[in-house]
Amino acid sequence: MNHGYSYQATLKASDSIHWRIEDIIGGDRRLDFTKPFMPESLARVEALTFLTSDEKQILNQIRGHEYLSIFGLVEEFILPFVLDHVREDLAADDRIRALLQFASEEAKHIQLFKRFESVFVAGFGTECAVIGPSEAIAAEVLKHDPLSIALLILQIEWMTQRHYLDSVRDNLGIEPLFASLLRHHWMEEAQHAKLDTLIVEAIAARMTAAEIDKAVDGYLEIGAFFDQGFRAQTALNLDAFERAVGRTLDERARTAFLEGQHQALRWTYLGSGMTHLNFLATLAAISPEARARVEAISPAFC
Ligand SMILES: [Fe+2]
Ligand SMILES: [Fe+2]
Repeated sequence: MNHGYSYQATLKASDSIHWRIEDIIGGDRRLDFTKPFMPESLARVEALTFLTSDEKQILNQIRGHEYLSIFGLVEEFILPFVLDHVREDLAADDRIRALLQFASEEAKHIQLFKRFESVFVAGFGTECAVIGPSEAIAAEVLKHDPLSIALLILQIEWMTQRHYLDSVRDNLGIEPLFASLLRHHWMEEAQHAKLDTLIVEAIAARMTAAEIDKAVDGYLEIGAFFDQGFRAQTALNLDAFERAVGRTLDERARTAFLEGQHQALRWTYLGSGMTHLNFLATLAAISPEARARVEAISPAFC
């Protein structure tokens, strides 16, 4: 495929981008709870017209907490997957250095998200529950074919690019530390998305067309598994929301909340990656049918 990505170039870019957790969070820095944390394109709270503007902001912040938790969770299976892939060829070259750097950055991101989460919990005042445990979710994902997992990870890394580029860069109203988190994550994930592309190509190159088709089934299965998780997460968000604002929504409002917010989570974590043009290009390169299958179902996640 003609993308021009190389281990050497990503390694060089990653060396020049490198940041420390202490540059972003820690010390006496606190989150500003008078501001939204998430871009509206991901939070989709404005459509819930039965909420006051203060309530919309609280829901937006609960979505921010969820974002920290879900990313912490997915990076927990990205890390072992990348390390397993590294072990396939231990020649001391740019490939191994680039992939180890990738793994090291994901370990740092897990710590970064956890650090933000504890600052959030200290300031928000209401407990926000999250699906899990992360070990069980990682085990469910990692039991699939390596190509199924690699495709999911590729989708996640392009999705992160879109989250920042589409909605954060020009949105000046976002809480400054949160905006900084998304920007720093985006900077390193840009290299990961290229490395994931190389990983997908390396794995697919040794598979038959039938094996690739089966791996695409597996990728869709993991997507369906996460979609159920996002439905459950939406109910947990509703519960946290009602406790945070101190009122219970009536039945109609609850239904609208659950439907609208489940779709918002689908877009945030599935649709925004599934429809990314670079993800679709890599899919098409390994199997044009796979691209057609994903394009046929992606509207349900948008
Ligand atoms: Fe990351
Ligand atoms: Fe990453």
